[in-house]
Amino acid sequence: MHHDDWIAICALDDIPVLGARRVARARGLDVAIFRGAADRVFALLDRCPHKGGPLSQGIVFGESVACPLHNWTIALATGEAAAPDEGSTARFSVLLDGGVVHLSARELAEHALEFTRPHAGPACRGHAEPAAAGSAALRSVPVTLQRA
Ligand code: FES
Repeated sequence: MHHDDWIAICALDDIPVLGARRVARARGLDVAIFRGAADRVFALLDRCPHKGGPLSQGIVFGESVACPLHNWTIALATGEAAAPDEGSTARFSVLLDGGVVHLSARELAEHALEFTRPHAGPACRGHAEPAAAGSAALRSVPVTLQRA
């Protein structure tokens, strides 16, 4: 995928090893950026294809993340759920350049806006921001999106 609108999001080292950060955007759900094995970086909509769980709060192993809600395994490179589960999460392009993680401004503005957080059930709780401070749910502090 080729983009000419990369914007710097954070340093690679701002993402915990085998961890994730969330990028808030003006419209649409957050984007989760993951630091996988061998410092490869991936970005997916922060929404599990099963019931909308916050993938940024899952366990990263190798180049996959286990959803914190029901443990589906999602491939970071493709957003696809591992068999026997079926479904996929929207994927975002990532450029790692000079130790800085970049996302496409156009994708952040326009991609996967149709998805919403479930309004009931456990997936609602993951994003109750300030109230959850200190809990495991906020292990990943959101990265504020800087416009270049
Ligand atoms: S919501 Fe992710 S496994 Fe169910």
